[in-house]
Amino acid sequence: MPAVEFPKGFDWGCATCAYQTEGAWNEDGKGESVWDRITHRGGVNPGPNGDTACDFYHRYKEDIALMKELGLKTVRFSVAWSRVLPEGKGRINQKGLDFYDRVIDEMLAAGISPLLNCYHFDHPMALHKEGGWANRDMAKCFAEYCGLLAERYGDRVKRWMVMNEPWVFSGGFHISRSGDWPTGLRVMHIVALAHGMAVRAIRAAGKPESITTAFDTPGIYPASDSEEDRAATERRWRMRDSFFIEGVQNGRYPDFHLGGNQAELLGIQPGDMEIVKTPLDCLGLNIYARELVAHDPADPHTGVRLAQPPEGVETFYGMELYPEAVHQVLMRMWNDYRVPLWVTEIGCNYSDFPDENGTVNDDRRVKFLQSYFAQMHRAIQDGADVRGCHVWTIMDSVEWESGFDMRFGLVYCDPTTQQRIIKKSGYWYRDLIAANRLAY
Ligand code: GCO
Repeated sequence: MPAVEFPKGFDWGCATCAYQTEGAWNEDGKGESVWDRITHRGGVNPGPNGDTACDFYHRYKEDIALMKELGLKTVRFSVAWSRVLPEGKGRINQKGLDFYDRVIDEMLAAGISPLLNCYHFDHPMALHKEGGWANRDMAKCFAEYCGLLAERYGDRVKRWMVMNEPWVFSGGFHISRSGDWPTGLRVMHIVALAHGMAVRAIRAAGKPESITTAFDTPGIYPASDSEEDRAATERRWRMRDSFFIEGVQNGRYPDFHLGGNQAELLGIQPGDMEIVKTPLDCLGLNIYARELVAHDPADPHTGVRLAQPPEGVETFYGMELYPEAVHQVLMRMWNDYRVPLWVTEIGCNYSDFPDENGTVNDDRRVKFLQSYFAQMHRAIQDGADVRGCHVWTIMDSVEWESGFDMRFGLVYCDPTTQQRIIKKSGYWYRDLIAANRLAY
């Protein structure tokens, strides 16, 4: 079994998210978020949802003790916008702000470096009613909200994340899910504007050590070796993986659209790109799987069709699990941007339950992490400056519309009893962190 050492001080951790863990959806003055509304209106998994989730709101001490037990150096958590600003702007909910004070203090006392993510998909319903991300005013609201967090927590939180997966809630949502290209493209630019304004607001409020964002960046591969498929693959990369990064780091968007004037379709106004350009200190990359891309002359937008994964492979939301994608994405991002990289999410959905002895033997997760970490190490060997890795996620939590039917945790959580059990993979990760060494 080969074994490899990671660079000294490698930043091993986990990522979590407010809606997926906190519960207490309407407690202590929290406003309704879009995700509260989505799950309450039905049509999604009727099982436990974010109303209670893992009850982190009440059990944060116990859960941070578990994080400490696993030896996590850092934990990325998100703030629920509607907990601190119930209407998204204006009136502040002190009790909401106080909650995150307690979380941050508890993490610091446990020797865990908190990475505060300002936004993980759950904006307040009140803002959604005004158009949500399709409304340009949202950018200003978002920046004010981020500034408020930075002022309040900047004395203790040194590492900031602006948002999680901008593609997923902009282009991914409107284009991939609904086929609504005009809205999708406009929203992508509004989100990038909001990002730029937020980075400025966070920097203005204090002296953050670093600001990043978690971009969702699957590996993108051509379905065949043909020149056309390879060109289509590049357009897909530009639209999905590098659109926001190129905007933020370099103040321009990559070309990917075949018809019409791309700048017009995106709704770019004079001066916008100067706002979007706010180079980050490091790039966060969520890497789970790969897309296979084929050229499709029938698609008037990008001439792209996503090909089905090969028969029989394991998939993640329709994409093929593919460890080498980690290496592909890290190398390309390093070569293109030359800033420190963090893998801000790696994880897998295996629903394993306690056996008769109460242990959870999730060997598949251990195997998965071994293969993905090995590729991360390979990228480091090949020269990429990769500083850390955050596993998705510490504990089984609400996987959006799938509820607890999809389980990504290193720790088992029973949402009915709120019992927690560290899985085999949790102990395995603890040992890996302690040794800073991967055997695979
Ligand atoms: C996302 C998020 C997480 C998910 C995770 C597993 O990708 O939507 O960052 O909230 O739970 O990626 O799907």
